[in-house]
Amino acid sequence: MSNHDTGHEASNEITTREPGVLPDRFEDPGHPEHHDRMGDLDPKANKRAERQVVFLFATSVLATIGFLIAYFALPPGPDAGSMRTSNLALGLGLAISLLGIGLAAVHWAKALMNDHEKSEERHLQQSDPETRAGAVEALKEGAADSAIGRRGVLQGAMISALALFPLAIIVPIVGNVGGDWNVSKFRHTLWKKGTRLATDPTNRPIKASDVTIGSVFHVIPYDLEKAAHPLDEKAKAVVLLVRLDPSVLKESEEKKSWSYNGIVAYSKICTHVGCPVALYEQQTHHLLCPCHQSTFDVSDGAKVVFGPAKRPLPQLPITVDDEGYLIAQSDFNEPVGPSYWERLTK
Ligand code: FES
Repeated sequence: MSNHDTGHEASNEITTREPGVLPDRFEDPGHPEHHDRMGDLDPKANKRAERQVVFLFATSVLATIGFLIAYFALPPGPDAGSMRTSNLALGLGLAISLLGIGLAAVHWAKALMNDHEKSEERHLQQSDPETRAGAVEALKEGAADSAIGRRGVLQGAMISALALFPLAIIVPIVGNVGGDWNVSKFRHTLWKKGTRLATDPTNRPIKASDVTIGSVFHVIPYDLEKAAHPLDEKAKAVVLLVRLDPSVLKESEEKKSWSYNGIVAYSKICTHVGCPVALYEQQTHHLLCPCHQSTFDVSDGAKVVFGPAKRPLPQLPITVDDEGYLIAQSDFNEPVGPSYWERLTK
């Protein structure tokens, strides 16, 4: 009989069956023949497997200690090199720590725990007291199978690895208690009255006359690299500069003076979760965030027209100086980046 026929009959049986009447059972094919593992037959191999599990847990312990040392000894500095080194050390510490625990658990299960196949009858969904008692019994059996009570060193290694790993999460959090949870550093950027707008990354000041209608400039504050932490500052201060036909610009009364001859400047940090918004559609005047497709209308205050972002991109009020260079009138009108910063500071 083909599989198809079998399935067809089975489905007929299900539809015609009286409620509560169980269908005929298939014959139990039984378990495939059990093959003992090396460790089941040879006590030395069993001991070796145990040592391997201990080694993996110990590796996790060392990696967690390494993470903690790196956290204090290699704080990220202002330059990209030290940030990379710090991130690499922390990332490796965490990864090896978790990997050690994971591999140890898998190896323990595969090499040391009882691997005899067992069948379980399928019952109705609800469990009766007898079943619950059976479950407790099975748990006890599992604990006995894992031999945790008899393998003291392994038990110690596992407890050490599991107990130590949370420190990799707790220490950085505790270390920040009393720190700047108010995220005030995100409220302000390098932009201030008179700062020239310069091209990113060449740091060339931009004249209003250089910006033709439809053109787009990626902008940073002039001489940004002289700041104490140029990378941090750049991450907050990046701007997208666009020139539109002034007739298509919709500006509120309050913001009419924030643009210059149709040139508008908006933060490039998406107000959803902070990706750089950089795809500009000249025809629609839409700015698109590549991460989750939030779309902002540059001609209408960079309001959100699509996607998960909840507020417009903050605007940088601009004007020109005596030499015709574009300059900021002030910092952004509100904190840049994801909206939760704004909520936290309220
Ligand atoms: S970060 Fe821009 S849409 Fe999500």
